[in-house]
Parts: sequence; C-alpha cells; structure tokens
Amino acid sequence: MTAKPTAILISGRGSNMAALIAAAASPEYPARIALVISNQPQAEGVELAQAHNIAVAIIPHQGKTRPQFDAEIDATLRRHGIELVCLAGFMRILSDDFVRAWSGRIINIHPSLLPAFKGINVHARALAAGVRISGCTVHFVVPELDAGPIIEQACVRVAPDDTEETLAARILEEEHRIYPQALRLLASGRVRLEADRAVFS
Ligand code: GRF
Repeated sequence: MTAKPTAILISGRGSNMAALIAAAASPEYPARIALVISNQPQAEGVELAQAHNIAVAIIPHQGKTRPQFDAEIDATLRRHGIELVCLAGFMRILSDDFVRAWSGRIINIHPSLLPAFKGINVHARALAAGVRISGCTVHFVVPELDAGPIIEQACVRVAPDDTEETLAARILEEEHRIYPQALRLLASGRVRLEADRAVFS
C-alpha cells in the first residue's frame, strides 16, 4: 500500500505535528506527511516542518472571510494531492462546507476526554471541575466543534497538586502517542467514518 499523502494544519508550537512527522518517517507507516499549512507565519512548527524538508504553506486568515480562507486551504490541499488532513493545534474554526468536503478524511486532537470539556481553556476547566481523570481524544472533524466520532483516547490521572501546566504536559505526552496511532488507523483503512459513527475493522 502506498502511504497516503497527508497534510497537517497548525497555528503554533507544532509538537503534535512533530510526533506525526516522526511516526511517518518509519517506512511501513501508511501516511506520508506531504504538507504543513499554518495560518500563523511565526508559528514555531513552521521552522520545524521546514527543517524536515516538508512543504509548508503559510495562509494567513487576516482580512479574509471564512469562505475565502477555507477556499484557499482547500485549493492548497488539492494542489498538493492531499488525501488526509490532521488538525494539530489549528486555532481557526473551519466552515461547514469545508468540513463536509473533507468528511471522513479530516481528524483533530483535543486535550480532554471528549465529550467532556469541548472548546478552549480545557485544563483550567478540568481542574476547576475537580475531575480525577482527564486525557486526550482524536476524533473525526464534523461541523460541530469537538463533537466528531472518536477514533482514539488516552486517560491521565489528575494529581492533587496539578496546575494547568503540569496537567497539560502529562496529557501532551499521551497526545504524542495516540495521534500517530489514530492516523495509522485512518490511513490504513482500519477506521472509517460511516454516517455519524467511527467504524473499526
Ligand atoms: C494540543 O494540546 C492539542 O491537543 C490542542 O492544541 C495543542 C497543540 O499543541 N488542539 P501543539 O501545537 O501540537 O504542540
């Protein structure tokens, strides 16, 4: 099976992007990271991707309507022959039309055990709620934010003295482990989106 050309969309640090790039470097991995798109020219992840000789497209969102921005991303993905899309700390909401066009081929990582704590400020809200377990989730992207069918999850125990930073750091380690696993499942056809369910085979 030839590795599926995959794009990663980022806005910042890019540590999940780095984990996906590292996993995809292994010859039997079913996805190939062919493109990184950032809406932020200064994103740390941009240099990292360039250092790995991966094509990078900077697509700023400022001064564009959401449909214009999304159309530019869509055209760039198609120009590079991309088949799968991983959102990795991409801080823009994509339009319903874009998400539908890529349905079943676009996934995201979120630093909580969905469906708990959708949205932003996740770790602060988890600590405030007093949960003893948190974690991370990789899911198919659907028009509703952080609501798509779940592909992979990992849990992390919350320590009594955890701060947002310490909890985030332990969850991030798990993110780096499960995102490559989830992309492997998708790219090898072992998970697919059917109606509103993730179907495993
Ligand atoms: C991660 O915690 C991810 O779950 C969330 O944004 C953060 C991105 O971090 N969606 P990085 O850019 O991958 O280091």
